[in-house]
Amino acid sequence: MLRESATFDRATIADIQRAAETGIYDIRGGGAKRRVPHFDDLLFLGASMSRYPLEGYRERCDTDVVLGDRNASYPLHLSTPVTIAGMSFGALSGRAKEALGRGASEVGTSTTTGDGGMTPEERGQSKHLVYQYLPSRYGMNPDHLRMADAIEIVLGQGAKPGGGGMLLGQKITERVAGMRTLPMGVDQRSACRHPDWTGPDDLEIKIRELREITDWEKPVYVKIGASRTYYDVKLAAKAGADVIVLDGMQGGTAATQDVFIEHVGIPTLAALPQAVQALQEEGLHRHVQLVVSGGIRNGADLAKCMALGADAVAIGTAALIALGDNAPHLDEEYRKLGSAAGFYDDWQAGRDPAGITTQDPELADRLDPVVGGRRLANFIRVMTMEAQVIARACGKAHLHSLEPEDLVALSIEAAAMARVPLAGTSWIPGQPL
Ligand SMILES: Cc1cc2nc3c(=O)[nH]c(=O)nc-3n(C[C@H](O)[C@H](O)[C@H](O)COP(=O)(O)O)c2cc1C
Repeated sequence: MLRESATFDRATIADIQRAAETGIYDIRGGGAKRRVPHFDDLLFLGASMSRYPLEGYRERCDTDVVLGDRNASYPLHLSTPVTIAGMSFGALSGRAKEALGRGASEVGTSTTTGDGGMTPEERGQSKHLVYQYLPSRYGMNPDHLRMADAIEIVLGQGAKPGGGGMLLGQKITERVAGMRTLPMGVDQRSACRHPDWTGPDDLEIKIRELREITDWEKPVYVKIGASRTYYDVKLAAKAGADVIVLDGMQGGTAATQDVFIEHVGIPTLAALPQAVQALQEEGLHRHVQLVVSGGIRNGADLAKCMALGADAVAIGTAALIALGDNAPHLDEEYRKLGSAAGFYDDWQAGRDPAGITTQDPELADRLDPVVGGRRLANFIRVMTMEAQVIARACGKAHLHSLEPEDLVALSIEAAAMARVPLAGTSWIPGQPL
């Protein structure tokens, strides 16, 4: 009998062989592929006797959320707590950015720029547009700060906390190069830290500076990759953030070293309760809103994030899939690229047959932004309705009323991380009985 080694399994052997042949490390898009404790390891306790459920078709369950009302005169009022995560123009085509804007606006939520700046396609179609202020400053334009509805200072991403972005030369076309003031066709690495500050005191100054130049109108978000979450959230909140965006290790990226994606950062499930604790201790939970991302796929994930204390979620990978990424009808083309529909993650390569993660004009033309936007809007509607189904079953008239008491965990690891009891027990590992 042939026995596969658990240590040197097929994928490991293939990795060693690839490294030996090429002498370069693997860069890819997407998030962590290995299994880590996640929202699937939690279950809701639907109401029966001790709690009273709400009637699905007759009783309201609201979904609206306000983001950034701590200091800004114009906080964002969203109809659903599902927002679109920051994804760069460069990683994505202009038409993909337009489709994201169309879809988000149709359902009353926000979209976010990314490394490389603001495009007219996205600004034009986005009712609520968050402008990212990144370590690289690629595409940073003070006029765009003023044209945005909120500003997101990016300190890190869940896929690569401590690391900077990458955009490979094949995606650096004349337009992308122009926006980033970089040479065409040359691999670009973004900075991993901001050039003009070294710590939380400087962040506080930067937040004030951004508020001043936008007349205290716009919420200032701070985005962190999940690692030392408890301390990072405390520092960001004390520095004056109106909203904290917390991105767990399953979070997608357009292009990063595989070793980084799989081995740096902590799971979204582990990070979220730490962030909530940090805000609660500062008396800022629900005053500084918490947006959580990293592997959010459906209404159940959304409801679980809300129950654990998030105010909203952000989706990247799921939004791209909704637009048409990895579509089954493109399977043959994905196979020609050495992948398959449902597996394609070479977003760094710029050859995406779905026309989403590309700058090739012929491929990009394949995506109809109106159709893509409609698909995304449908998907967000479904996510929202799924979360409402769960909330009503738990007797909640607003998604924000979901609470940790509505949850139990299926594994000891998930119970310890989420700080909810193991199903069928009252045991929360690490807490006194
Ligand atoms: C194609 C792509 C491009 C991205 N570009 C950026 C970026 O420019 N800035 C940033 O902060 N995060 C970027 N991200 C990360 C997302 O903002 C978000 O943190 C992540 O996608 C959330 O995880 P999910 O993909 O599992 O939903 C990107 C992600 C993807 C998939």
